[in-house]
Amino acid sequence: MTSYSDFHRRSIEDRDGFWREQAALIEWETPFTQVCDYSNPPFARWYAGGKTNLCHNAVDRHLKDRPDQNALIFVSTEVDKEIIYSFRQLHAEVQRMAASLQALGVKKGDRVLIYMPMIPEAAFAMLACTRIGAIHSVVFGGFASVSLASRIDDSQPVVIVSADAGSRGGKVVPYKGLLDEAIRLAQHKPARVLMVDRGLAAFDKVDGRDADYAALRQQHLDTVVPCTWVDATHPSYTLYTSGTTGKPKGVQRDTGGYAVALAASMKHIYCGNPGETYFSTSDIGWVVGHSYIIYGPLVAGMATIMYEGLPIRPDAGIWWQLVEKYKVTVMFSAPTAVRVLKKQDPAYLSKYDLSSLRALFLAGEPLDEPTAKWIAESLGRPIIDNYWQTETGWPILSICKGVDDSATKFGSPGKAVYGYDVKLIDEATGTEITEPGQKGVVTVEGPLPPGCLQTVWGDDDRFVKTYWTSVPGRMVYSTFDWGIRDADGYYFILGRTDDVINVAGHRLGTREIEESISSHPNIAEVAVVGVADQLKGQVAIAFAVLKDTSKAATTADALKHEGEIMKLVDEQLGAVARPARVRFVSALPKTRSGKMLRRVIQAVCEGRDAGDLSTMEDPSALQQIKDLMAPK
Ligand code: PRX
Repeated sequence: MTSYSDFHRRSIEDRDGFWREQAALIEWETPFTQVCDYSNPPFARWYAGGKTNLCHNAVDRHLKDRPDQNALIFVSTEVDKEIIYSFRQLHAEVQRMAASLQALGVKKGDRVLIYMPMIPEAAFAMLACTRIGAIHSVVFGGFASVSLASRIDDSQPVVIVSADAGSRGGKVVPYKGLLDEAIRLAQHKPARVLMVDRGLAAFDKVDGRDADYAALRQQHLDTVVPCTWVDATHPSYTLYTSGTTGKPKGVQRDTGGYAVALAASMKHIYCGNPGETYFSTSDIGWVVGHSYIIYGPLVAGMATIMYEGLPIRPDAGIWWQLVEKYKVTVMFSAPTAVRVLKKQDPAYLSKYDLSSLRALFLAGEPLDEPTAKWIAESLGRPIIDNYWQTETGWPILSICKGVDDSATKFGSPGKAVYGYDVKLIDEATGTEITEPGQKGVVTVEGPLPPGCLQTVWGDDDRFVKTYWTSVPGRMVYSTFDWGIRDADGYYFILGRTDDVINVAGHRLGTREIEESISSHPNIAEVAVVGVADQLKGQVAIAFAVLKDTSKAATTADALKHEGEIMKLVDEQLGAVARPARVRFVSALPKTRSGKMLRRVIQAVCEGRDAGDLSTMEDPSALQQIKDLMAPK
C-alpha cells in the first residue's frame, strides 16, 4: 500500500485520473466524456456527459448478485415493529412509490418534499424520486410549520409526502396538522399531498389534494417504473441547512458525483463491504441520514438499519442488541448520543456480542476526549471521528481506514480526506497558514471533490457569495469553521466562525431562532447564542429586551414570558430550536455602530474572557448578562 499522503497527493495532483478510477465503483448508462469540468469556477461539473441513476446504483444494480440479501432493516421501538426488505422487495416497494408519485403528476426535475418520520416509506420516497429524476427535499420531522413553510416556498414541490405521525419516547407526535399549517403559511401550494397513514393519529383530509398512499400503492402493486437515466450533473436532491442569515439554504447535490463519492467513501473511509450491515443512528432529515442511512450503504450493496426510537428505550442496550442481531460491521453516530449512553449502566455494553463491529464513526459535532475514551474502552473498537458538513455530503477530515493505518488522536477528526485540498487561512490577512499549531479558517481549494454541493438551490449568486473567496488564479471554499493543524497533518476543529450553533449535533442558525422569538408581541430585541453544555455540546440561550418591561417585572411574569417564547419557537421552528433559557435584559451589548456582540455574550456565558471590549457602546448591558449568568 502506498502511504496515505501519496494517496491524498495523487487525488489533488492527478485529480482527473484519481476520480476516473473511483467512477468505476458505480454503474453508468452512458460513460462520461470529462471527469471534471471546472471551466466556470467555483461551479464544478463532475462526470460531464455521463448518464446514470442513483436509485439504480442503490437498488437495481444489486438484483443480479444479491436479490435476497437484506437491504433495508426497519426497526421501531416506538411502535414495536421490525420489517426487513431484501433488495428484491425494496425494488418492488420503490417502484410502487414511484408509480404513485407519477400518478400524482411528478415528472423528472419536479421537486418532492418529504416530511416524514423514520419509516420505510420515507426511504421508498427518496429512492422513488431519484429513480424518476425528481428532486427530493427531505425536511427533518422535528421542524414545525414556519420552518417547513420556508422550505416549501424555496423548493416549490409539486407533491409533499408525509405521514399522520411520528413517535418519540412512546409519545405520538402528529405531523399532519403542522403540514397543513405550513401549506397555509406558504405562498407556494403543492398540487398534491401523499399521506402514509400509520394509524397513530387521526387527521383532516383535504379533498382533491390529499391522497392515501395505501390505496395508491394497491393500484400499482405490479407497475414497472424503469430508472430514468439522468445526466451526472442532474440534481438528485436539495437539503436545507442554516447559515448566518435567517433564510435556510437549499444545498443542491448532483447525481453522478454523489454516487461516486459515496461509493468511494464506503470503500476508503468506512470500509463497508457488500453483504454486511451498516447502522447509522442519524435521521433521514439530516445529511448523515441521506448519505449514510440511505444512499451510501445501499450503493455499496450493504444492508442498512433504519431505526425509529431513542437510544435508551426500552433500555440503553438497544443499539448493541441490534449490532448483535444483524451483525453490524460499521456503525455511525454522534457524540451527543454517546454522552447520553455514558450516563446509563455500562453493563449494557458488555451484554451483547459486538464482535462483528469493526469501527464506530462519530460526526456532526466536536468529540470530547472523555466521551471518546469512554466509548473506545467500553466497545474495545476503533472510534473514528470524522468532520464534514451538509454542504459536502461526505467527510472532509477523517482517518481513511481503508487506505491509512495511522492511529487516531483524541480531539482530532483526523487528516484531510482524499479529494479535499484543505488549507488553513489567516482570517485577517487571507494568507495560508503553513506553520503547525496556528489557528485559521478551514478552507478547501476549488474545485470541491465530487458529491459536494453544486450550488444553492435557485441561487447561484448566494452560493458564490456565501462560500467562496477569490484569490488570484483560484477560488477557495470556506467551511466557516476554525481549525488548527498539527505537525503530523491532523486537524483540530475549534468551532464556527459564523452564527451557526450545534445543539446535540443539530445545526441551527441563531438568526432563525431570533426571528421566531421577535414575533412575540412583547419582544423588542433579542440575541441568541450557543453556550457550551456538557450533554448537548451547545444549547441556545436567548437574551431579550421587552417592549413593555412592566409585564415581566416579577419572577413569575418573567417565567411566563419565557414559557410563551419557548412555546412560540416550538410551534414555529420545532422543539430542536427551542432555547434552553430565555433571560430578560434592558439592553443588549452592541458596538457603537450597532452590531450585536454575540461572541462577547457567548464568552461571558461560558465564563471566558470576553476579549477587546473597546468598541462596546454600553458596558452595563454586558454586566447585566454577567450577573444573570453568574452561578447562584
Ligand atoms: O461546525 C462543524 C460541525 O458541524 C458543522 C456541520 O454540520 P452539518 O451541516 O449538520 O453536517 C454534519 C455532517 C456530519 C461543521 O461546520 N462538525 C461536524 N462534524 C464535526 C464538527 N465539529 C467538530 N468535529 C466534527 N467531527
